[in-house]
Amino acid sequence: MKRCLSGIKPTGMLTLGNYIGAIRQFVTLQDEYEMFIFIANLHAITVAQDPKELKTNTKNLIALYLACGLDPEKVTLFLQSDVKEHAELGWILTCHSYMGELSRMTQYKDKIAKGETNITAGLFTYPALMAGDIILYDADVVPVGIDQKQHVELCRDIVERFNNAHGDTFTSPQPMTPKVGAKIMDLQDPTKKMSKSEDNPKGTIALLDEPSVARKKIKSAITDSIGIVQYDIENQPGIANLLTIHSCLSGQSIEDIVQQFEGKGYGDFKGVVAQGVFDFLTDLQAKHNEILTSKIIEKTLEEGAAKATLVARNKMYKVKKKLGLQVF
Ligand code: AMP
Ligand code: TRP
Repeated sequence: MKRCLSGIKPTGMLTLGNYIGAIRQFVTLQDEYEMFIFIANLHAITVAQDPKELKTNTKNLIALYLACGLDPEKVTLFLQSDVKEHAELGWILTCHSYMGELSRMTQYKDKIAKGETNITAGLFTYPALMAGDIILYDADVVPVGIDQKQHVELCRDIVERFNNAHGDTFTSPQPMTPKVGAKIMDLQDPTKKMSKSEDNPKGTIALLDEPSVARKKIKSAITDSIGIVQYDIENQPGIANLLTIHSCLSGQSIEDIVQQFEGKGYGDFKGVVAQGVFDFLTDLQAKHNEILTSKIIEKTLEEGAAKATLVARNKMYKVKKKLGLQVF
């Protein structure tokens, strides 16, 4: 069975973008692949975190993974910091990455461009840690949203470099982005990605938003003055975004939805999208609350860490031997 791995940072509120771009894929892939899904808490601390909030976000994220349909019987679900080998391999790969290639990573460049000053060295070397996360398990595929594709590509370069220098050691992973929904946009500015860290909460739907609030956000999403429901990213990015959201949540194709709204106005269309989001969140949050009050989170993380550690430890032993770190 091929291996599939991915992770999400437990920072801020998980958004509808995270669900559509990432978690939804994890759920559909769990029957086909041997899956490793983790909470990237070592990545989270590349920017300052409030420890209490980090704890709450971590519990919420694992509960959301489960509520979205990940089955701990099929998937190894774990916390990154519970498996020490991530930090260990991350360091080794930092020593196999070049300053030049790390400086070309968009996420880092964007922060510099925005004039952010408190950029930690960890934020800069983060793609090397991420490469370690992936190849520690010899993952074949990595389902991610478009913004993370570049990091998986860098991982492939690092694998090639390492394997050339030390002999065949790691599997080169393939990034996998969904055909529809790889980049859900902000509802108030559909040229920007919907993001957890967004300052304007009206543009972002958090998975734990009150469903009626989410409904309002969809209804007040920015559109255009063309007035025809059709998929035209260039001229109607707001409508294209709503079409994508509706298609992903309802399972209908974009063409079918467009046909359904032929001759109808944006009001009707938004009403249906908003109701779909309302129903989705209501159902998800009921499951989420049930999971949070049970003991299942603790058990899942404990078992997940044990399973992941077995694979990771074995791999690290081989890596350390190749590098001459393991003497006996
Ligand atoms: P992050 O929120 O940056 O930790 O991202 C976690 C996962 O969700 C990654 O695979 C991202 O690519 C994906 N993701 C985040 N925001 C969006 C979005 N607006 N649309 C689609 N995928 C997203
Ligand atoms: N960097 C990813 C993000 O910000 C999270 C992540 C960390 C990840 N390690 C990973 C995703 C390994 C896929 C594979 O979303």
